[in-house]
Amino acid sequence: MSRLVVVSNRVAPIEEGKATAGGLAVGVLDALRKSGGIWFGWNGETVKENGPAKTQTKDNIDYVTFGLTKRDYDHYYRGFSNATLWPIFHYRIDLARYNREEYDGYRRVNMAMAERLKPLLKTDDIIWVHDYHLIPFAEACRMLGIRNRIGFFLHIPFPAPEILTAIPPHNELLKTLCFYDLIGFQTDTDQLAFQDYITREVRGVLEKDGSLTAYGHNFRVGVYPIGVMPDVIQKQAESYRTRRQFISRSIEGVPYKTIVSVDRLDYSKGLVERFQAFEKLLEHFPEHHRAVQFVQIAPSSRADVVSYQNIRRQLESHAGHINGHFSELDWTPIRYLNKSYDRRTVMGLFRSSDVGLVTPLRDGMNLVAKEYVAAQDPENPGVLVLSRFAGAARELNSALIVNPYDHVGMAEALDRALRMPLEERKSRYEDMMRVIRKADLASWRDNFLRDLRAFSSKALVQSIETKDAAGEEVDSKQKVAL
Ligand code: G6P
Repeated sequence: MSRLVVVSNRVAPIEEGKATAGGLAVGVLDALRKSGGIWFGWNGETVKENGPAKTQTKDNIDYVTFGLTKRDYDHYYRGFSNATLWPIFHYRIDLARYNREEYDGYRRVNMAMAERLKPLLKTDDIIWVHDYHLIPFAEACRMLGIRNRIGFFLHIPFPAPEILTAIPPHNELLKTLCFYDLIGFQTDTDQLAFQDYITREVRGVLEKDGSLTAYGHNFRVGVYPIGVMPDVIQKQAESYRTRRQFISRSIEGVPYKTIVSVDRLDYSKGLVERFQAFEKLLEHFPEHHRAVQFVQIAPSSRADVVSYQNIRRQLESHAGHINGHFSELDWTPIRYLNKSYDRRTVMGLFRSSDVGLVTPLRDGMNLVAKEYVAAQDPENPGVLVLSRFAGAARELNSALIVNPYDHVGMAEALDRALRMPLEERKSRYEDMMRVIRKADLASWRDNFLRDLRAFSSKALVQSIETKDAAGEEVDSKQKVAL
């Protein structure tokens, strides 16, 4: 079987047990563990000068990583990726900025990454590229003459065309995306938004076989909701005895109920709205005073992007306000922890909590929602309260689905979750576990790679028969190398 080469901006930490930075890293690492292969990307460090990539091998994975110069970091990562694409793809035009130099840097780093990858490739490697940092990566590869099959998976939402077109070079950007052989999305809404752009904005064609033709390329799109590994999570959750720690925190022998949330500190996660909803719970349902505690774990993220500094300040002020107003000598309603924990601890915390509160304003999938459910004790499961704007809500419809802009509605859902009888909790849990087991992480990976293998070989043969990446006629013998 061909070797898998995964390319993503960030490569997960290699040391076991270290906290990972987000859903992508968790999903990709678990997906790579079975098949083995190369994981290629940025090591998270800035360097004075570009140097050679470093390879570290652990088990069956070669981690090939490199640093970014300060200029590349500023333009490509902090600038165009996280101050333009991230807010716009999460429907936050108000937080987005555009700077042409940053966009040029984004294109430059994509090209430099493709150049670094090229010498490592074997002809039959299959390349799987992840997320919004790397939209032009396939185009860069093709310009360098790389002919391997290349697929792309977008972990975040794809915005409606009216939002997308706020990015000045949207047309050029989307043109580069169409160099991939297969483009995967988390939900059908994302795929439809992309198709809408392609067919209406650039007059692309949706072919009878479901593929798309645009900008002179024929490629396939598909929906591949990322999942988790429920059995592994169960084991991690069982083995970590956080429950005792929380139960011991009781008032006069009566244990607190615990609501838990774990997110990167990001404005897309709806953290402030969530704190406001918790405040409404305490205002409208005083019976929960001294009976519930809300634990929010939110490690800092992208702390040198201004909008992230603002959200952190807002959150700290809200937590302070709520605790100042409601706390008693023996009860602090919110525990806000601005740090990260390893996965075992987090899974144990999920299992020991009565409610998982996952309320992003917009999210590609949100693996925390699935992890929370998978970590529960089947005989005494907690309740998931989930935003309708998380991709996960399209699958986990037995959660209590809420609108994060409706603080009172969220407070009512929290009250309902805290009082929900065991039978209903079990039935909702079982419904959700069925979905989580069926669409697990292995099926996400296998379905995507199956489609990439099946389609792209055909597409590549077609395109290579006419011209190579530079537009020149090529020898038909090259087809054999595919
Ligand atoms: C989200 C994105 C990932 C990203 C992660 C952590 O999950 O989809 O691409 O790696 O956040 O963000 P960071 O900027 O720290 O890599």
